[in-house]
Amino acid sequence: MTDKKASHKSSVASGQVSRRRQPLRIALFGFGTVGSSVARILAESKPEGLELTHIFNRGVARKRVNWVPAGVTWSEDAEAVLRSDADVIVELAGGLDPAGTWVRRALEAGKSVVTANKKLIAYHGVELERLAAEKGGHLKYGAAVAGGIPVIPGLEQGLAGDRITRMEGILNGTCNFILSKMEGGADYAPVLAEAQAKGYAEADPTEDVGGLDARAKLAILMRLAMRVVVDPDEITPKPITAVGAVDFSYARDLSCTIRQVARAEESDGVVAATVGPMLVDLRSPLAWSRGTENMVILTGHYGGDVVFSGHGAGGHPTAVAVVSDLLALAHGSRRVEIPSVPAKIGAEFELPHYIRFLVKDRPGIVAEITGALAREAINIRAIVQKPGYPAAALPFVVTVEPCKSSALKRALTEIGKMDCLLEQPLDLQMLE
Ligand SMILES: NC(=O)c1ccc[n+]([C@@H]2O[C@H](COP(=O)([O-])OP(=O)(O)OC[C@H]3O[C@@H](n4cnc5c(N)ncnc54)[C@H](OP(=O)(O)O)[C@@H]3O)[C@@H](O)[C@H]2O)c1
Repeated sequence: MTDKKASHKSSVASGQVSRRRQPLRIALFGFGTVGSSVARILAESKPEGLELTHIFNRGVARKRVNWVPAGVTWSEDAEAVLRSDADVIVELAGGLDPAGTWVRRALEAGKSVVTANKKLIAYHGVELERLAAEKGGHLKYGAAVAGGIPVIPGLEQGLAGDRITRMEGILNGTCNFILSKMEGGADYAPVLAEAQAKGYAEADPTEDVGGLDARAKLAILMRLAMRVVVDPDEITPKPITAVGAVDFSYARDLSCTIRQVARAEESDGVVAATVGPMLVDLRSPLAWSRGTENMVILTGHYGGDVVFSGHGAGGHPTAVAVVSDLLALAHGSRRVEIPSVPAKIGAEFELPHYIRFLVKDRPGIVAEITGALAREAINIRAIVQKPGYPAAALPFVVTVEPCKSSALKRALTEIGKMDCLLEQPLDLQMLE
């Protein structure tokens, strides 16, 4: 171990801020959107106590830029950088592997790690935090949820004294961009293409539009907010792909719009969690978030509601969260240890639902639907049918009073067998 490293370690471990100690030596793993923004902030702002020493990426020759300080070592040898005297590995390559291997190797060597990798933290965060604690390093991932919005530091510090019982979040900027554009009258396919052209959506958008990205982030927030460790795979996400222009039109008539919402609730130790497109009241803050913005509403047992909003993604906003984590390490600030226990998703939300049907019209359709709902003791709130649609492909909407999703699912399985249906009914929860 070098003297420089020993000096850094002792100040982090003791939690002391020392102006005399050596700067934290930083190795970037991944020089893509976020990695290059982190390097840019370090090069331009020169935050005190931080020194970029290594940049690792495959095919590094095509990545080199002239604004990175000349003393930085560019490398495509991960092992060599892991063996170097860097104090902190900043993992910004993404995915479970090899990123997970690099993070484990760094922690095992007693280094600290900063990452924005929600997938890695959602599936392996507990194990990696334990490893960091055992080896005397730190693992920080403030950028893993909601990019530049300090939700994770907010939970670890400012809200650690409360008991969060509910949270609702817009956690995926791509879905919010698509849905808020559709609210303005655009169709799904061209908006997705626009999101891809602007770099908001991947070439394969499944993780975003399918809800997998949002559920990984929800699982991370549940651990910090509700102190429960859930397997993200237990949360079945609903894709936004089934939502059409007709749904925005009906939603507007109900004084609502549609957003992809990630939601979790804890009551008497039992947890409910869900991710998918939902109807949100136009007066709700969730309806105000547009474009790639993210928003998280946390409800505390003691402190009530706290709302975080801002730019949830993008190179610079996400890099701000990464650099803030680095500064926290450099200044020896330790996060509040938040204990968590393994939990199963054991409860369902009881919410009103919006159900949109597309049928070839014939007599008796409404009676069959209301009969199937009545057999599950589900009360109808309203039946809405807008004029101007052809009888051969008629969309109409039934809204129901708060009911268990499982009861509604049984009723919809029955209803799904009706010969008049042109597609399976679209069932969306309504947040009030
Ligand atoms: N972008 C955002 O707005 C955002 C927001 C929050 C969190 N994040 C998270 O931040 C992380 C980085 O995201 P990003 O958008 O910056 O991704 P990105 O633009 O794809 O950058 C990833 C970089 O890592 C390199 N890389 C990937 N796998 C590698 C491997 N096996 N060996 C060597 N180099 C490798 C890539 O090299 P190539 O160029 O050769 O592919 C690329 O330069 C991800 O975990 C992501 O989920 C991103």
